[in-house]
Amino acid sequence: MINKNTVIFIILILTIFYESVLTKVIFGPNTPQPVKKDLEFNSNGKFKIIQFTDLHYGEADYKDDLSNQVQNGVLKAEPDGDLVVMTGDSVSGYAWNGTEGWFIEKWIHLVEPMIKNNIRWAFTLGNHDDEADLDRVQIVELDNTFNLSLTQRGPSDIRGATNYYLPITDPATDEVATILYFFDSGDDNCQGVEGWGCVYPDQIEWYRSVSIGLREKYGRVVPAIAFMHIPIPEYMDMWNFYPVNGSLYDTGVCCFSVNTGLFAAFKEMGDIVSMHCGHDHDNDFIGEYNGVQLGYGRKSGYGGYGPPTGWKHGARVLEITANPFSISTYLRFDDGSTQNSPPSHLPQAKEQYNTCCDTYGFVNVTGNSYSNCKLYEEEFLSQNPFLFEINQNHHKKMNKI
Ligand SMILES: *[C@@H]1O[C@H](CO)[C@@H](O)[C@H](O)[C@H]1NC(C)=O
Ligand SMILES: *[C@@H]1O[C@H](CO)[C@@H](O)[C@H](O)[C@H]1NC(C)=O
Ligand SMILES: *[C@@H]1O[C@H](CO)[C@@H](O)[C@H](O)[C@H]1NC(C)=O
Ligand SMILES: *[C@@H]1O[C@H](CO)[C@@H](O)[C@H](O)[C@H]1NC(C)=O
Repeated sequence: MINKNTVIFIILILTIFYESVLTKVIFGPNTPQPVKKDLEFNSNGKFKIIQFTDLHYGEADYKDDLSNQVQNGVLKAEPDGDLVVMTGDSVSGYAWNGTEGWFIEKWIHLVEPMIKNNIRWAFTLGNHDDEADLDRVQIVELDNTFNLSLTQRGPSDIRGATNYYLPITDPATDEVATILYFFDSGDDNCQGVEGWGCVYPDQIEWYRSVSIGLREKYGRVVPAIAFMHIPIPEYMDMWNFYPVNGSLYDTGVCCFSVNTGLFAAFKEMGDIVSMHCGHDHDNDFIGEYNGVQLGYGRKSGYGGYGPPTGWKHGARVLEITANPFSISTYLRFDDGSTQNSPPSHLPQAKEQYNTCCDTYGFVNVTGNSYSNCKLYEEEFLSQNPFLFEINQNHHKKMNKI
């Protein structure tokens, strides 16, 4: 008579046996250690982030090869990088040729340098990534098939797909010493106002509740860094009224078309000390605005407009120190050089930019102008009438967020 416990015991033994055999058969005897998903400061208490932005793959193979070289050049010059962060518009979705599988091919190409250099990455979406054959969630799912990807599909009941956070632990104290927040700033329009996308109030509520939860969990405010694609309107105010390092050659600051109060939430929570974005390829300035560092990256890819003549493609590097917490940053270029002394810009009363967020253009004291971004996209599509048609039809079909 075999009782129930004996049956369970036999099943258990068989399961263990099969699993150990199967593991050997599938993974071989030298199974590699799984990629570590948890981020840690190194033994010197440092953590280095390499920010690629606006890679804009997909417009032409030769451009993608050049962008690949930029990534490889930067990663070679920063061999101790801990994490690559991509702040959106990694792919020029408007260059989609109508074929399924197009996006996957571009994505495999753009993650190649990180795989070759064995560095983990995390991204947030821009306004152009989802204009081809994959939607926002599908792009995250595709990225998650790579074992070095730390990108997460955020909560499904709020706007956007890439709202998530990654804690970094300091092994010296065994405590979380920094939080990285990723926000999905959408594509076009905000709250029905024409212009650029934004982080919506429900996303801000998500951030506040996460931040409050982490403060309670750790019993203190943990310093944090925010990444997103589109700048917040405070960038424009900072350029106009505060000293900054770096330049503005874009048509203004192409920020959220509505100020949804994200910066106010940063100040309320008191954790975010630094924010980094992309979107405006011809801007690379960085400064301090009411206690928070606000910075652009450096245009990394060859697709899209910019960067301005004479500027090298590259990346912004953020070096974080755990204890006491600090951030230092510089631009690293594809040829391995760095920018040592960025031009400083002081506020000038007459230079009052407005956003370029309203109706594709921006308004300054002398009049209206179209943004570089819209001019480029229109020219690109007018030179490629075949793509223009696909793009137009696709836009009509698409369920834009
Ligand atoms: C990660 O994936 C690559 C294939 O893309 C594979 O060669 C490698 O062994 C994997 N690494 C680990 C640690 O699983
Ligand atoms: C569209 O792009 C894909 C991926 O690059 C390529 O394999 C395919 O040949 C292209 N199709 C056309 C019609 O150009
Ligand atoms: C600009 O750079 C200089 C030199 O690196 C630095 O001392 C200064 O604090 C920076 N200014 C701002 C506003 O970040
Ligand atoms: C303001 O806009 C006008 C019209 O587009 C342009 O010619 C001028 O250069 C702009 N001024 C600044 C300071 O950008």
